[in-house]
Amino acid sequence: MFETRPAGCIGKPATAVADADHYTWPEGGLNRIPDWVYTSDAIYEREVDRIFHGRSWNYVALEAEIPEPGQFVRSFVGPTPVVVVRGEDGAVNVFENRCAHRAAEFCREQRGKVTEFVCPYHQWTYDLEGNLSGVPFRRGVGGKGGMAKDFDPTQHGIRKLNVTTRRGVVFASYHDDMETIEEYMGPDILRDFDATFDGRKLTILGYYRNTVPGNWKLYHENLKDPYHATLLHTFLVTFGLLVAGNKSAMIADATGRHGTMASAKSDGKSIDSAAKSEMRAYRDGMELNEPKFMDFIPEFDSPWSVTMQTIWPNLIVQREMNTLGVRQIVPKGPNEFVMNWTMFGYEGDDEEMTRHRLRQGNLMGPAGFLGLEDNEAMKFVQDGMLRGTDGTHLVALDPETPTGTSDTLISESAIRGMYEYWRKEMGL
Ligand code: FES
Ligand SMILES: [Fe+2]
Repeated sequence: MFETRPAGCIGKPATAVADADHYTWPEGGLNRIPDWVYTSDAIYEREVDRIFHGRSWNYVALEAEIPEPGQFVRSFVGPTPVVVVRGEDGAVNVFENRCAHRAAEFCREQRGKVTEFVCPYHQWTYDLEGNLSGVPFRRGVGGKGGMAKDFDPTQHGIRKLNVTTRRGVVFASYHDDMETIEEYMGPDILRDFDATFDGRKLTILGYYRNTVPGNWKLYHENLKDPYHATLLHTFLVTFGLLVAGNKSAMIADATGRHGTMASAKSDGKSIDSAAKSEMRAYRDGMELNEPKFMDFIPEFDSPWSVTMQTIWPNLIVQREMNTLGVRQIVPKGPNEFVMNWTMFGYEGDDEEMTRHRLRQGNLMGPAGFLGLEDNEAMKFVQDGMLRGTDGTHLVALDPETPTGTSDTLISESAIRGMYEYWRKEMGL
């Protein structure tokens, strides 16, 4: 039965959300995932309502993007456009990019610096906290027209979100009574998050954006699927970044929603021949023209040279040796999402280090040496579900670990853990 939630079901017709109740998870527990989880409009609507607008901390920006009062960036919470702005008092504010008058998406620049926001349609004006500060012709002209005498601007600000930050990373939630971001991540995830955001101030190195024709959860699954990593990615395997047999781990938090795929780089030459024959992606004889490309300069308090973190529901934290970035997932319906990438370094990096981070950044991004294949694989999966007939698919590797953290790469237990959590949140 659908129930209305205070901050959740924002203007969504209850029937559209209730339609998700028509779906029943098949027998067989978490080893089989039905296609409708990825393709149904009703399920997607419920995800927006219960997950992105529900009890989640959504990544929205890095503080380094808006160091001064009045600096802002446009961002998203789920599919919903928001503005992230530093207020006069130095605090970060997040509010919907939706005018209180006629709902116009008033902030049109991707980033910038302002003293106030003015909606282009009828010039209603808002301060840096989203309060309504000006309404043209509020009292009409010549005693006619205008707003009612009792119109109270304090009741017509922009919808504001709850905001928190951790080490320069900004999160927002539609719920006011959220747990702290530290409790939300849990100690096993926070450890590697803090190894990346270690207190050094961040500097922004650049942005990418790409659209993936797949369901947004496939990106989480891709990074909770260490099995594919040793099989799909020629570059990763051939140059020893992640190889079956390397020191590695797939770590989940207690709820199953977050994950850290972690590995320690090895020398590619030391891979044993039995493992090589299983890994078809391995290419003997492939060499780098620029050997410095794969240098790992130790700078982190961590046993891992690579950690890829999925922070539910919309953040990926990438620490791939010395190339660093955050990725924001913006769902655009069940069958498509946008990935916004922000690459960064640290204040205090010398020119050589910045060059190294940028050079190594070619690993990642929409066409990165080892990002490229993931996008393609996700499209193949979505196409298979949309065009095929079977109705469910298999997530059964590593039955000894039913859900959550696994000590082998040949496992899908972190994906099952994520769906255990997802089903609870979705009531399915
Ligand atoms: S829609 Fe924004 S001022 Fe009218
Ligand atoms: Fe991958």
